[in-house]
This record gives sequence, structure tokens and C-alpha cells, in this order.
Amino acid sequence: MKREKIFENNKQWVKKKMENNPQYFTNLAKKQNPKILYIGCSDSRVSVETMMGAEPGEIFVHRNIANMVISADLNAMSIIEYAVQYLKVEQIIICGHYNCGGVKAAMQSEDLGILNPWLRNIRDVYRIHYEELEKISSDEKKYDRLVELNVQEQCINVLKTACVQKAIHKKEVTVEGFIFNVHTGFLKNLHLDFPALLKNIEKIYRLTE
Ligand code: CO
Repeated sequence: MKREKIFENNKQWVKKKMENNPQYFTNLAKKQNPKILYIGCSDSRVSVETMMGAEPGEIFVHRNIANMVISADLNAMSIIEYAVQYLKVEQIIICGHYNCGGVKAAMQSEDLGILNPWLRNIRDVYRIHYEELEKISSDEKKYDRLVELNVQEQCINVLKTACVQKAIHKKEVTVEGFIFNVHTGFLKNLHLDFPALLKNIEKIYRLTE
């Protein structure tokens, strides 16, 4: 898309919003009050607000390659802390997507330079779930399953943070894993059963009494 087109589209968008509600931007400027923190992949095909039918102001967004939540990533950790502590979001959604290039790259034996340490976190997900993944004979199904397991592990990484543990204890927030199916456009809830998933490891990661 050319620069001229971007500004033309922007003008049309403002016009449309103002036609529906002349106070739209006056209200938008007042404050944000999102109820959702969305952590997803940077992939251009996964358009957060569009696929969820949301308006500006409704979703606090963090995106990176393959929707990762890494404890040493100051960016992701700050986003989570700010969203939970100050914005008081009620829902944290980790959203992966099928055909994720980041997940695909992590399944290959290739030196990808600066991407290596980032993708190693996905290789760790593969290692944790090695037995299940190795049983899948179809490469495509294995790829899809790794996308899902990666979302599961990133949800667990969110649950390892102190602020989320405290908020969950007070029943202020929930953590959910979604997958966007690029083939159909549909979102899928993985319905992750965290008490079961955390059963054997909860005491290791617990940061509160
Ligand atoms: Co992706």
C-alpha cells in the first residue's frame, strides 16, 4: 500500500466514524479502558480488531514472532504488568495461528541468525511435548499441533508471572488460549484446563503464599 493510499484511507475512516458519532474521537481521547490483553503473532494475516469485531480502545495488544511470552523479555513482561496492574484487564488471550512462519522455522534445522535464540523457545516447546509430537506422522498435523502446544506453553508462561498469579487468586483475570485458523477465518478456543496442566508444576512456579 502506497503512502498516499494510507492517508486517503485514514481520511475516509475518520469521516465514517464522525458520521456515525461526531463525538467519537473526543470520547476516544479521554482514556482507554480495555478489558482484554491480547498477545499474538505479528503475522500480517492475523488482524486483531478485525477478526474479533472490536473497536479502538477495547483490546490492549502485544505482538511478536510466534506469540511468545519469555520471562527475560522486558517488553512482554511490562505489557503484562501494566495491563493487569493498571488497566485491570479481565481477560488475557494468547492467540496463535496455523501456518505460523515462526513455528515452522523452529521445526527446521537451519541457522537463522538473531532469530535463533527467539525460536529456541519454540524448540523447547517441541522438546517438552516430544513424545506426543513424534507420534504424529503427518508433517502438517504435527505443525498444527505445535502451534497449539506453543499457545498452551505461552499461557503457562503468563501464569508464571507474579502479577497474574495475584490477580487470578483474587479472581480478577482469566487466561485463555486461542488459535486463528488462516484457512477458514475462524477463531478456536483451546479450552485449556489449567488446573490439570499445572497440577505437577504449580508448586515450582508459585510466587505467592
Ligand atoms: Co505467526
